[in-house]
Amino acid sequence: MHHSDRHQGGEKAILVHCTIKGNEFLNNQNDLDEFRLLAISADAEILGEITGTMNKPSAKLFVGTGKADEIAQKVAELGAEIVLFNHTLTPSQERNLEKVLQCKVIDRMGLILDIFAKRARTYEGKLQVELAQLTHLSSRLVRGYAHLGQQKGGIGLRGPGETQLETDRRLLQIRVNQLKAKLDKVKKTRLQGRAKRQKSEVPTISLVGYTNAGKSTLFNLLADDKIYAADQLFATLDPTLRQVKWAGVGNVVLADTVGFVQNLPHELVESFHATLEETLEADLLLHVIDSSSPEMHEQIDAVNGVLAQIGATAPVLLVHNKIDRTHENPTIHYKDKGVPSRVYVSARENLGMDKLSQAVQELLVGGLSKFHLTLPYHAGQLKNTLHELGVIVQSEYDETGHEMLTVCLAKDKLKELLGKHHLDAFDILPPHEASQFLPVLEEFEKVDVKFDGDENLDPFCH
Ligand code: GTP
Repeated sequence: MHHSDRHQGGEKAILVHCTIKGNEFLNNQNDLDEFRLLAISADAEILGEITGTMNKPSAKLFVGTGKADEIAQKVAELGAEIVLFNHTLTPSQERNLEKVLQCKVIDRMGLILDIFAKRARTYEGKLQVELAQLTHLSSRLVRGYAHLGQQKGGIGLRGPGETQLETDRRLLQIRVNQLKAKLDKVKKTRLQGRAKRQKSEVPTISLVGYTNAGKSTLFNLLADDKIYAADQLFATLDPTLRQVKWAGVGNVVLADTVGFVQNLPHELVESFHATLEETLEADLLLHVIDSSSPEMHEQIDAVNGVLAQIGATAPVLLVHNKIDRTHENPTIHYKDKGVPSRVYVSARENLGMDKLSQAVQELLVGGLSKFHLTLPYHAGQLKNTLHELGVIVQSEYDETGHEMLTVCLAKDKLKELLGKHHLDAFDILPPHEASQFLPVLEEFEKVDVKFDGDENLDPFCH
Protein backbone atom coordinates (compact mmCIF):
# COMPACT_ATOMS: atom_id res chain seq x y z
CA MET A 1 0.00 0.00 0.00
CA HIS A 2 1.27 3.48 -0.80
CA HIS A 3 1.68 5.89 1.99
CA SER A 4 -0.72 8.28 0.36
CA ASP A 5 -3.42 5.60 0.45
CA ARG A 6 -2.94 5.21 4.14
CA HIS A 7 -4.18 8.73 4.86
CA GLN A 8 -7.51 8.31 3.21
CA GLY A 9 -10.49 7.88 5.45
CA GLY A 10 -8.21 7.81 8.46
CA GLU A 11 -9.31 8.83 11.91
CA LYS A 12 -8.61 12.46 12.65
CA ALA A 13 -5.90 12.41 15.27
CA ILE A 14 -3.86 14.66 17.49
CA LEU A 15 -0.47 13.43 18.63
CA VAL A 16 0.87 14.13 22.09
CA HIS A 17 4.57 13.76 22.76
CA CYS A 18 5.99 14.98 26.04
CA THR A 19 9.59 15.18 27.03
CA ILE A 20 10.22 13.95 30.51
CA LYS A 21 13.23 15.60 32.06
CA GLY A 22 16.13 13.25 32.55
CA ASN A 23 14.65 10.62 30.30
CA GLU A 24 16.85 10.53 27.18
CA PHE A 25 14.76 7.94 25.48
CA LEU A 26 11.82 10.29 25.25
CA ASN A 27 13.89 13.37 24.53
CA ASN A 28 14.65 11.97 21.16
CA GLN A 29 13.41 13.70 18.06
CA ASN A 30 13.57 10.41 16.16
CA ASP A 31 11.12 9.06 18.59
CA LEU A 32 8.63 11.74 17.56
CA ASP A 33 9.35 11.10 13.88
CA GLU A 34 8.74 7.44 14.41
CA PHE A 35 5.58 8.14 16.34
CA ARG A 36 4.27 10.06 13.32
CA LEU A 37 5.13 7.15 11.08
CA LEU A 38 3.35 4.79 13.46
CA ALA A 39 0.26 6.96 13.47
CA ILE A 40 0.24 7.09 9.68
CA SER A 41 0.75 3.33 9.54
CA ALA A 42 -2.36 2.98 11.68
CA ASP A 43 -4.28 5.04 9.12
CA ALA A 44 -4.55 8.13 11.27
CA GLU A 45 -4.89 11.52 9.68
CA ILE A 46 -2.67 13.79 11.75
CA LEU A 47 -4.42 17.09 12.43
CA GLY A 48 -1.98 18.45 14.93
CA GLU A 49 0.77 17.73 17.39
CA ILE A 50 1.21 18.85 20.94
CA THR A 51 4.55 18.63 22.65
CA GLY A 52 5.59 19.60 26.12
CA THR A 53 8.08 19.09 28.89
CA MET A 54 7.39 17.78 32.35
CA ASN A 55 9.28 16.70 35.41
CA LYS A 56 7.26 13.60 35.99
CA PRO A 57 3.93 12.27 34.73
CA SER A 58 0.90 13.05 36.84
CA ALA A 59 -0.95 10.08 38.24
CA LYS A 60 -4.36 11.24 37.17
CA LEU A 61 -3.98 12.49 33.60
CA PHE A 62 -0.34 11.73 32.81
CA VAL A 63 0.00 15.38 31.72
CA GLY A 64 -0.74 18.31 34.00
CA THR A 65 -4.22 19.85 34.05
CA GLY A 66 -3.03 22.89 32.09
CA LYS A 67 -1.69 20.69 29.33
CA ALA A 68 -4.86 18.60 29.36
CA ASP A 69 -6.92 21.76 28.82
CA GLU A 70 -4.66 22.75 25.94
CA ILE A 71 -5.20 19.34 24.32
CA ALA A 72 -8.97 19.48 24.95
CA GLN A 73 -9.15 22.85 23.28
CA LYS A 74 -7.26 21.61 20.23
CA VAL A 75 -9.49 18.54 20.03
CA ALA A 76 -12.60 20.72 19.97
CA GLU A 77 -11.10 23.26 17.60
CA LEU A 78 -9.87 20.74 15.01
CA GLY A 79 -12.62 18.18 15.44
CA ALA A 80 -10.23 15.38 16.36
CA GLU A 81 -11.66 11.90 16.92
CA ILE A 82 -8.70 10.44 18.72
CA VAL A 83 -5.67 11.54 20.74
CA LEU A 84 -2.57 9.40 20.46
CA PHE A 85 -0.07 9.54 23.30
CA ASN A 86 3.53 8.60 22.62
CA HIS A 87 3.71 7.15 26.12
CA THR A 88 2.46 4.27 28.15
CA LEU A 89 -0.73 5.23 29.97
CA THR A 90 -2.35 3.39 32.82
CA PRO A 91 -5.97 2.34 32.26
CA SER A 92 -7.15 5.00 34.71
CA GLN A 93 -5.10 7.75 33.04
CA GLU A 94 -6.63 6.74 29.73
CA ARG A 95 -10.12 6.78 31.23
CA ASN A 96 -9.63 10.17 32.89
CA LEU A 97 -8.15 11.65 29.74
CA GLU A 98 -11.08 10.44 27.66
CA LYS A 99 -13.45 12.20 30.05
CA VAL A 100 -11.53 15.45 29.91
CA LEU A 101 -10.81 15.38 26.18
CA GLN A 102 -14.17 13.95 25.17
CA CYS A 103 -12.63 11.66 22.60
CA LYS A 104 -10.87 8.34 22.31
CA VAL A 105 -7.37 8.11 23.78
CA ILE A 106 -4.84 5.48 22.76
CA ASP A 107 -1.33 5.06 24.12
CA ARG A 108 1.77 4.00 22.26
CA MET A 109 1.28 0.34 23.09
CA GLY A 110 -2.32 0.39 21.84
CA LEU A 111 -1.15 2.07 18.64
CA ILE A 112 1.54 -0.51 17.98
CA LEU A 113 -0.92 -3.31 18.69
CA ASP A 114 -3.27 -1.80 16.16
CA ILE A 115 -0.57 -1.77 13.53
CA PHE A 116 0.29 -5.36 14.26
CA ALA A 117 -3.40 -6.19 13.99
CA LYS A 118 -3.59 -4.65 10.54
CA ARG A 119 -0.45 -6.36 9.33
CA ALA A 120 -0.89 -9.79 10.88
CA ARG A 121 -0.92 -12.08 7.92
CA THR A 122 -0.80 -15.54 9.34
CA TYR A 123 -3.50 -17.28 11.25
CA GLU A 124 -1.09 -17.61 14.13
CA GLY A 125 -0.10 -13.96 13.89
CA LYS A 126 -3.75 -12.96 14.01
CA LEU A 127 -4.36 -15.09 17.07
CA GLN A 128 -1.33 -13.61 18.76
CA VAL A 129 -2.40 -10.07 18.04
CA GLU A 130 -5.86 -10.73 19.34
CA LEU A 131 -4.46 -12.25 22.48
CA ALA A 132 -2.13 -9.29 23.04
CA GLN A 133 -4.96 -6.84 22.39
CA LEU A 134 -7.27 -8.62 24.78
CA THR A 135 -4.62 -8.61 27.45
CA HIS A 136 -3.96 -4.93 26.86
CA LEU A 137 -7.66 -4.12 26.85
CA SER A 138 -8.78 -6.39 29.64
CA SER A 139 -7.97 -3.92 32.40
CA ARG A 140 -9.63 -1.17 30.38
CA LEU A 141 -12.73 -3.17 29.58
CA VAL A 142 -14.54 -3.05 32.91
CA ARG A 143 -15.36 0.56 32.49
CA GLY A 144 -16.84 0.04 29.06
CA TYR A 145 -16.66 2.84 26.58
CA ALA A 146 -20.00 4.31 27.64
CA HIS A 147 -18.51 7.71 28.34
CA LEU A 148 -17.55 7.95 24.69
CA GLY A 149 -20.90 7.06 23.26
CA GLN A 150 -21.35 4.58 20.46
CA GLN A 151 -17.82 4.40 19.06
CA LYS A 152 -16.94 1.12 17.45
CA GLY A 153 -13.86 0.06 15.58
CA GLY A 154 -11.09 2.46 14.63
CA ILE A 155 -7.56 2.65 15.91
CA GLY A 156 -6.84 0.37 18.81
CA LEU A 157 -10.28 -1.17 18.72
CA ARG A 158 -10.11 -3.16 15.55
CA GLY A 159 -8.65 -6.56 15.80
CA PRO A 160 -8.66 -9.67 13.72
CA GLY A 161 -11.29 -10.97 16.12
CA GLU A 162 -13.16 -7.66 16.41
CA THR A 163 -13.73 -7.94 20.11
CA GLN A 164 -17.01 -6.76 21.56
CA LEU A 165 -15.86 -4.15 23.98
CA GLU A 166 -18.81 -4.65 26.28
CA THR A 167 -17.88 -8.26 26.88
CA ASP A 168 -17.47 -8.78 30.57
CA ARG A 169 -14.33 -10.15 32.06
CA ARG A 170 -15.66 -13.67 32.40
CA LEU A 171 -16.39 -13.93 28.67
CA LEU A 172 -13.08 -12.32 27.99
CA GLN A 173 -11.28 -14.96 29.99
CA ILE A 174 -13.04 -17.69 28.01
CA ARG A 175 -11.89 -16.07 24.78
CA VAL A 176 -8.35 -15.76 26.08
CA ASN A 177 -8.31 -19.45 26.97
CA GLN A 178 -9.69 -20.38 23.57
CA LEU A 179 -7.04 -18.32 21.85
CA LYS A 180 -4.31 -19.89 23.90
CA ALA A 181 -5.54 -23.37 23.04
CA LYS A 182 -5.71 -22.53 19.35
CA LEU A 183 -2.27 -21.00 19.46
CA ASP A 184 -0.89 -24.12 21.07
CA LYS A 185 -2.29 -26.20 18.27
CA VAL A 186 -1.01 -23.93 15.52
CA LYS A 187 2.36 -23.80 17.17
CA LYS A 188 2.59 -27.57 17.24
CA THR A 189 1.76 -27.79 13.54
CA ARG A 190 4.33 -25.14 12.78
CA LEU A 191 7.01 -26.85 14.81
CA GLN A 192 6.32 -30.11 13.00
CA GLY A 193 6.63 -28.31 9.68
CA ARG A 194 9.88 -26.78 10.72
CA ALA A 195 11.28 -30.07 11.98
CA LYS A 196 10.43 -31.61 8.63
CA ARG A 197 12.18 -28.81 6.81
CA GLN A 198 15.23 -29.09 8.99
CA LYS A 199 15.38 -32.79 8.38
CA SER A 200 15.34 -32.23 4.65
CA GLU A 201 18.07 -29.64 5.19
CA VAL A 202 16.24 -26.93 3.30
CA PRO A 203 17.85 -23.64 4.33
CA THR A 204 15.56 -20.86 5.55
CA ILE A 205 16.06 -17.27 4.46
CA SER A 206 14.16 -14.77 6.57
CA LEU A 207 13.30 -11.24 5.47
CA VAL A 208 13.49 -8.69 8.25
CA GLY A 209 13.38 -4.93 8.13
CA TYR A 210 11.86 -1.73 9.34
CA THR A 211 8.23 -1.18 8.55
CA ASN A 212 7.76 0.10 4.98
CA ALA A 213 11.22 -1.04 3.83
CA GLY A 214 9.77 -3.19 1.06
CA LYS A 215 9.93 -6.70 2.55
CA SER A 216 6.59 -7.84 1.19
CA THR A 217 7.34 -6.44 -2.25
CA LEU A 218 10.64 -8.32 -2.32
CA PHE A 219 9.06 -11.46 -0.87
CA ASN A 220 6.39 -11.50 -3.56
CA LEU A 221 8.91 -10.90 -6.29
CA LEU A 222 11.15 -13.71 -5.08
CA ALA A 223 8.31 -16.09 -4.40
CA ASP A 224 6.27 -15.28 -7.47
CA ASP A 225 6.70 -17.62 -10.39
CA LYS A 226 8.72 -19.96 -8.26
CA ILE A 227 5.94 -21.56 -6.23
CA TYR A 228 5.45 -25.23 -6.88
CA ALA A 229 1.97 -26.61 -7.14
CA ALA A 230 2.88 -29.00 -4.35
CA ASP A 231 3.47 -26.04 -2.08
CA GLN A 232 -0.04 -24.78 -2.26
CA LEU A 233 -0.89 -26.41 1.02
CA PHE A 234 2.19 -24.97 2.58
CA ALA A 235 1.32 -21.55 1.22
CA THR A 236 -2.21 -21.59 2.57
CA LEU A 237 -1.12 -22.78 5.99
CA ASP A 238 1.20 -19.87 6.32
CA PRO A 239 1.28 -17.22 3.62
CA THR A 240 4.53 -15.81 4.94
CA LEU A 241 6.47 -18.99 4.22
CA ARG A 242 7.27 -20.11 0.70
CA GLN A 243 9.44 -22.82 -0.66
CA VAL A 244 11.30 -21.51 -3.68
CA LYS A 245 14.15 -22.67 -5.86
CA TRP A 246 17.11 -20.37 -5.45
CA ALA A 247 19.59 -20.25 -8.31
CA GLY A 248 22.68 -22.29 -7.49
CA VAL A 249 21.35 -23.30 -4.09
CA GLY A 250 18.23 -25.36 -4.75
CA ASN A 251 15.22 -25.42 -2.47
CA VAL A 252 15.07 -22.72 0.17
CA VAL A 253 12.28 -21.56 2.42
CA LEU A 254 11.62 -17.82 2.34
CA ALA A 255 10.04 -16.30 5.43
CA ASP A 256 8.47 -12.86 5.54
CA THR A 257 8.17 -11.22 8.97
CA VAL A 258 6.27 -8.31 10.44
CA GLY A 259 7.92 -4.92 10.11
CA PHE A 260 9.99 -3.78 13.05
CA VAL A 261 9.63 -0.43 14.77
CA GLN A 262 11.82 1.42 17.21
CA ASN A 263 11.47 0.69 20.89
CA LEU A 264 9.27 -2.32 20.37
CA PRO A 265 7.70 -2.81 23.79
CA HIS A 266 8.96 -5.81 25.73
CA GLU A 267 5.54 -7.38 26.17
CA LEU A 268 5.09 -7.34 22.42
CA VAL A 269 8.42 -8.95 21.74
CA GLU A 270 7.29 -11.66 24.14
CA SER A 271 3.97 -12.25 22.47
CA PHE A 272 5.41 -12.22 18.98
CA HIS A 273 8.30 -14.40 19.86
CA ALA A 274 6.74 -17.35 18.11
CA THR A 275 6.37 -15.38 14.90
CA LEU A 276 9.93 -14.22 15.19
CA GLU A 277 11.20 -17.73 15.84
CA GLU A 278 11.40 -18.21 12.11
CA THR A 279 13.89 -15.37 12.14
CA LEU A 280 15.82 -16.92 14.98
CA GLU A 281 16.25 -20.21 13.21
CA ALA A 282 17.01 -18.81 9.78
CA ASP A 283 20.24 -19.70 8.01
CA LEU A 284 20.41 -16.24 6.53
CA LEU A 285 18.69 -12.95 7.26
CA LEU A 286 17.98 -10.49 4.48
CA HIS A 287 17.77 -7.16 6.23
CA VAL A 288 15.69 -5.05 3.84
CA ILE A 289 16.41 -1.32 4.06
CA ASP A 290 14.57 1.64 2.60
CA SER A 291 17.72 3.39 1.38
CA SER A 292 15.67 6.37 0.23
CA SER A 293 14.53 7.15 3.77
CA PRO A 294 16.22 10.07 5.53
CA GLU A 295 16.01 7.99 8.69
CA MET A 296 17.75 5.02 7.12
CA HIS A 297 20.48 4.76 9.74
CA GLU A 298 18.13 5.00 12.71
CA GLN A 299 15.93 2.36 11.11
CA ILE A 300 18.87 0.02 10.56
CA ASP A 301 19.82 0.50 14.21
CA ALA A 302 16.26 -0.16 15.32
CA VAL A 303 16.11 -3.45 13.41
CA ASN A 304 19.53 -4.49 14.70
CA GLY A 305 18.25 -3.66 18.18
CA VAL A 306 15.26 -5.97 17.84
CA LEU A 307 17.42 -8.72 16.35
CA ALA A 308 19.72 -8.45 19.33
CA GLN A 309 16.74 -8.39 21.69
CA ILE A 310 15.37 -11.66 20.34
CA GLY A 311 18.83 -13.19 20.14
CA ALA A 312 19.10 -13.70 16.38
CA THR A 313 22.57 -14.82 15.39
CA ALA A 314 22.26 -15.82 11.72
CA PRO A 315 24.47 -14.09 9.16
CA VAL A 316 22.91 -10.93 7.75
CA LEU A 317 22.92 -9.57 4.22
CA LEU A 318 21.89 -5.91 4.06
CA VAL A 319 19.54 -5.39 1.13
CA HIS A 320 19.48 -1.69 0.23
CA ASN A 321 16.12 -1.40 -1.47
CA LYS A 322 14.51 1.42 -3.49
CA ILE A 323 17.63 2.32 -5.49
CA ASP A 324 15.27 3.61 -8.17
CA ARG A 325 14.91 6.58 -5.83
CA THR A 326 18.53 6.92 -4.76
CA HIS A 327 19.91 6.29 -8.25
CA GLU A 328 22.50 3.83 -6.99
CA ASN A 329 23.58 0.95 -9.22
CA PRO A 330 22.65 -2.66 -8.57
CA THR A 331 25.84 -3.98 -6.97
CA ILE A 332 27.22 -6.31 -4.34
CA HIS A 333 29.55 -4.96 -1.68
CA TYR A 334 32.00 -7.32 -0.02
CA LYS A 335 33.64 -7.25 3.37
CA ASP A 336 37.20 -8.42 3.57
CA LYS A 337 37.62 -12.11 2.81
CA GLY A 338 35.18 -11.76 -0.06
CA VAL A 339 32.02 -12.28 1.98
CA PRO A 340 29.05 -10.31 0.57
CA SER A 341 27.79 -7.75 3.09
CA ARG A 342 25.29 -5.67 1.13
CA VAL A 343 23.44 -5.55 -2.15
CA TYR A 344 21.70 -2.64 -3.83
CA VAL A 345 18.36 -3.44 -5.44
CA SER A 346 14.89 -2.20 -6.21
CA ALA A 347 12.20 -4.73 -5.48
CA ARG A 348 9.45 -2.69 -7.05
CA GLU A 349 11.38 -2.04 -10.26
CA ASN A 350 12.91 -5.51 -10.31
CA LEU A 351 16.48 -4.20 -10.37
CA GLY A 352 19.52 -6.10 -9.12
CA MET A 353 17.79 -9.42 -8.48
CA ASP A 354 20.71 -11.22 -10.15
CA LYS A 355 23.04 -9.55 -7.65
CA LEU A 356 20.85 -10.56 -4.74
CA SER A 357 20.69 -14.08 -6.09
CA GLN A 358 24.46 -14.25 -6.41
CA ALA A 359 25.16 -12.77 -2.98
CA VAL A 360 22.80 -15.24 -1.29
CA GLN A 361 24.39 -18.08 -3.20
CA GLU A 362 27.84 -17.02 -2.09
CA LEU A 363 26.69 -16.74 1.52
CA LEU A 364 24.87 -20.07 1.61
CA VAL A 365 27.11 -22.29 -0.49
CA GLY A 366 30.31 -20.33 -1.06
CA GLY A 367 32.03 -18.29 -3.78
CA LEU A 368 31.05 -18.96 -7.37
CA SER A 369 33.37 -20.35 -10.02
CA LYS A 370 33.02 -21.31 -13.65
CA PHE A 371 33.30 -24.96 -14.60
CA HIS A 372 33.41 -26.57 -18.03
CA LEU A 373 31.61 -29.88 -18.05
CA THR A 374 31.66 -32.44 -20.83
CA LEU A 375 28.66 -34.60 -20.11
CA PRO A 376 28.83 -38.32 -20.68
CA TYR A 377 25.66 -39.79 -22.15
CA HIS A 378 24.53 -41.18 -18.82
CA ALA A 379 24.63 -37.78 -17.08
CA GLY A 380 21.17 -36.59 -18.11
CA GLN A 381 20.04 -36.29 -14.52
CA LEU A 382 22.94 -34.06 -13.61
CA LYS A 383 22.03 -31.83 -16.52
CA ASN A 384 18.44 -31.64 -15.30
CA THR A 385 19.55 -30.67 -11.84
CA LEU A 386 21.93 -28.01 -13.17
CA HIS A 387 19.15 -26.69 -15.33
CA GLU A 388 16.75 -26.55 -12.39
CA LEU A 389 19.35 -24.75 -10.35
CA GLY A 390 19.63 -22.17 -13.09
CA VAL A 391 23.43 -22.24 -13.21
CA ILE A 392 24.05 -23.16 -16.86
CA VAL A 393 25.75 -20.24 -18.57
CA GLN A 394 26.41 -21.83 -21.94
CA SER A 395 25.71 -25.09 -23.71
CA GLU A 396 27.26 -26.49 -26.90
CA TYR A 397 28.30 -29.80 -28.46
CA ASP A 398 31.81 -31.00 -29.15
CA GLU A 399 32.80 -32.85 -32.34
CA THR A 400 32.02 -36.23 -30.76
CA GLY A 401 28.47 -35.14 -29.99
CA HIS A 402 28.95 -34.75 -26.24
CA GLU A 403 27.28 -31.83 -24.65
CA MET A 404 29.59 -29.27 -23.13
CA LEU A 405 28.19 -27.02 -20.41
CA THR A 406 29.65 -23.93 -18.87
CA VAL A 407 28.20 -23.58 -15.39
CA CYS A 408 28.67 -20.97 -12.70
CA LEU A 409 28.14 -22.19 -9.16
CA ALA A 410 29.81 -22.82 -5.85
CA LYS A 411 32.46 -25.51 -5.81
CA ASP A 412 30.86 -27.27 -2.85
CA LYS A 413 27.52 -27.35 -4.61
CA LEU A 414 29.05 -28.99 -7.68
CA LYS A 415 30.88 -31.42 -5.44
CA GLU A 416 27.61 -32.32 -3.76
CA LEU A 417 25.91 -32.86 -7.12
CA LEU A 418 28.70 -35.03 -8.47
CA GLY A 419 28.51 -37.16 -5.36
CA LYS A 420 24.75 -37.44 -5.59
CA HIS A 421 24.90 -38.59 -9.20
CA HIS A 422 27.89 -40.88 -8.64
CA LEU A 423 30.05 -39.05 -11.15
CA ASP A 424 33.82 -38.74 -11.12
CA ALA A 425 35.07 -35.20 -11.51
CA PHE A 426 37.90 -36.38 -13.79
CA ASP A 427 35.40 -37.92 -16.21
CA ILE A 428 33.58 -34.71 -16.91
CA LEU A 429 35.85 -31.79 -16.08
CA PRO A 430 39.18 -30.67 -17.56
CA PRO A 431 41.97 -31.90 -15.26
CA HIS A 432 42.82 -28.51 -13.75
CA GLU A 433 39.19 -28.04 -12.74
CA ALA A 434 38.68 -31.61 -11.62
CA SER A 435 41.73 -31.48 -9.39
CA GLN A 436 39.87 -29.02 -7.16
CA PHE A 437 37.58 -31.82 -6.17
CA LEU A 438 40.34 -34.01 -4.89
CA PRO A 439 41.73 -32.71 -1.67
CA VAL A 440 45.13 -34.15 -2.59
CA LEU A 441 46.94 -32.90 0.45
CA GLU A 442 44.34 -34.21 2.86
CA GLU A 443 44.39 -37.62 1.24
CA PHE A 444 48.11 -37.58 1.41
CA GLU A 445 48.07 -36.63 5.08
CA LYS A 446 45.57 -39.35 5.88
CA VAL A 447 47.74 -41.93 4.20
CA ASP A 448 50.75 -40.48 5.87
CA VAL A 449 49.23 -40.70 9.32
CA LYS A 450 47.95 -44.18 8.81
CA PHE A 451 51.22 -45.54 7.57
CA ASP A 452 53.45 -43.32 9.56
CA GLY A 453 57.03 -43.99 8.60
CA ASP A 454 56.28 -46.43 5.79
CA GLU A 455 57.72 -44.51 2.86
CA ASN A 456 56.91 -47.14 0.27
CA LEU A 457 53.23 -46.50 0.66
CA ASP A 458 53.55 -42.78 0.29
CA PRO A 459 52.06 -42.06 -3.14
CA PHE A 460 54.04 -38.85 -3.49
CA CYS A 461 57.44 -40.35 -2.83
CA HIS A 462 59.32 -41.36 -5.94
P1 GTP B 1 5.52 -3.52 6.45
O1 GTP B 1 4.42 -4.45 6.06
O2 GTP B 1 5.07 -2.22 7.02
O3 GTP B 1 6.57 -4.15 7.27
O4 GTP B 1 6.21 -3.03 5.07
P2 GTP B 1 7.12 -3.86 4.08
O5 GTP B 1 8.54 -3.78 4.51
O6 GTP B 1 6.56 -5.20 3.80
O7 GTP B 1 7.01 -2.91 2.79
P3 GTP B 1 6.12 -3.09 1.49
O8 GTP B 1 6.64 -4.19 0.64
O9 GTP B 1 4.70 -3.10 1.88
O10 GTP B 1 6.49 -1.73 0.74
C1 GTP B 1 6.25 -0.47 1.33
C2 GTP B 1 6.14 0.58 0.24
O11 GTP B 1 7.36 0.74 -0.43
C3 GTP B 1 5.11 0.20 -0.82
O12 GTP B 1 4.43 1.36 -1.18
C4 GTP B 1 5.96 -0.31 -1.97
O13 GTP B 1 5.36 -0.15 -3.22
C5 GTP B 1 7.18 0.56 -1.83
N1 GTP B 1 8.38 -0.07 -2.41
C6 GTP B 1 8.82 -1.33 -2.22
N2 GTP B 1 9.95 -1.56 -2.93
C7 GTP B 1 10.23 -0.41 -3.58
C8 GTP B 1 11.29 0.01 -4.48
O14 GTP B 1 12.19 -0.74 -4.84
N3 GTP B 1 11.24 1.30 -4.90
C9 GTP B 1 10.25 2.16 -4.54
N4 GTP B 1 10.30 3.41 -5.03
N5 GTP B 1 9.25 1.81 -3.72
C10 GTP B 1 9.23 0.56 -3.25
